[in-house]
Amino acid sequence: MADTLTVTDNRNGKTYEIPIRDGAISAIELRKIKTSEDDFGLMSYDPAYLNTASCRSSVTYIDGDKGILRYRGYPIEQLAEKATFLECAQLLLEGELPSKSRHDQFVHEVMHHTFVHENVKRFMEGFRYDANPMSMFISAVAALSSFYPEANEVEDPAVRHRQIVRLIAKVPTLAAYSYRHSQGLPYVYPSNELSYTGNFLAMVFKMSEMKYVPNPTLERAFDVLFILHADHEQNCSTSTMRQIGSSRVDPYSALAGAAAALYGPLHGGANAEVLYMLEKIGKKENVPDFIKKVKSKDAMLMGFGHRVYRNYDPRAKIIKKLAHEVFQVTGTNPLLEIAMELERIALEEEYFISRKLYPNVDFYSGLIYQAMRFPVDFFPVLFAIGRTVGWLAQWQEMLQDKEQKIARPRQIYTGPDKRDYVAMGGRG
Ligand code: CMC
Repeated sequence: MADTLTVTDNRNGKTYEIPIRDGAISAIELRKIKTSEDDFGLMSYDPAYLNTASCRSSVTYIDGDKGILRYRGYPIEQLAEKATFLECAQLLLEGELPSKSRHDQFVHEVMHHTFVHENVKRFMEGFRYDANPMSMFISAVAALSSFYPEANEVEDPAVRHRQIVRLIAKVPTLAAYSYRHSQGLPYVYPSNELSYTGNFLAMVFKMSEMKYVPNPTLERAFDVLFILHADHEQNCSTSTMRQIGSSRVDPYSALAGAAAALYGPLHGGANAEVLYMLEKIGKKENVPDFIKKVKSKDAMLMGFGHRVYRNYDPRAKIIKKLAHEVFQVTGTNPLLEIAMELERIALEEEYFISRKLYPNVDFYSGLIYQAMRFPVDFFPVLFAIGRTVGWLAQWQEMLQDKEQKIARPRQIYTGPDKRDYVAMGGRG
């Protein structure tokens, strides 16, 4: 049997044969379907890209029905248990797990690019004392572009590599500065002798001690959280990174746009929304009433549901387990009880079962962040640090993909037909 689709246009009875490749037809093939020579040809209409593949990618694989997530073929469960975040970063960026020497070199490179220009500090100081850390983070990432004018040479692999290393190295510094600014605390310079995660914790939490020693459980927990957030194929922010990057702008500008997309409450901002929701519910006894509101569509159960997963998000399973390890050090987050009760009831309810709504990555991550004393509005910034690697891996893949061009969707115009300008005095 041929791998083709036969389509009959009932407007004129013509038949077309469209090739099927990798379970997809090429949308441009539809343009051949015309009723006359000057007909533009058929388009496909797909708001929010519910059924449109925008690229070929070998970075991340998700099977939403089975709850599978793999980076370059490796199951997320194995990576979260055995790998470090920077090892995963190399895997995502380079396609293979690195050898020891390659990895040592990469860690050295990253840890020696963690400092930012002193002017960045002054730039941060311009924000109001109560500025949202994610706004500061997004702006600071965009501002980095002005420090590295060479970054717009995106076709040059060596230049590209330098910016990738700089971004991975500097996002924790910018994130920590935005935290310290919002707390009214002095900025802490990076310590290159610490691990990637240990250095981040030091820049956030170091006070008057001479040498900050990160708690090993919390340090590892963060490494795992960064791994779990590192990539998730063509989600809203990653598609934004590819879309902006397709104009060949520098990666700092593109990544600022991706981070802005992440900030939204339906995406990376959901981890903060979960906490606000749990605080509003207040106690376990109020959970059934809240579920009623969700079922009547008067509330959303934040941290539940996913465009791709129609099963338990595998990251949520790992995070739930991790939460218990973190709570051994920090003490239990009192909101955990409410979260677990919400999950228990929701998973038994027809509303959630029929819609295949399960906890996603954001459902439990916020509880960990809060137990570590991070303010809620800082949670999306933590997501952005891990996701930076995925954004860069996907951006690089897009630039190297010969099938890609500047992203430019079509539209179905629904506005008025041509009409003539009317002077202001003559308008109704
Ligand atoms: N609470 C209550 N109802 C929900 C929820 C939810 N969290 N999510 C989906 N539904 C309902 C929705 O109302 C719709 O019902 P109906 O068929 O009666 O109209 C049905 O489930 C299908 O939902 P949808 O809106 O078509 O699903 P989507 O694929 O467009 O949206 C989503 C996916 C993640 C935006 C959505 O589930 C959501 O808003 N969840 C809450 C926010 C959240 O946790 N976001 C984090 C996602 S994971 C990490 C990340 O991407 O950053």
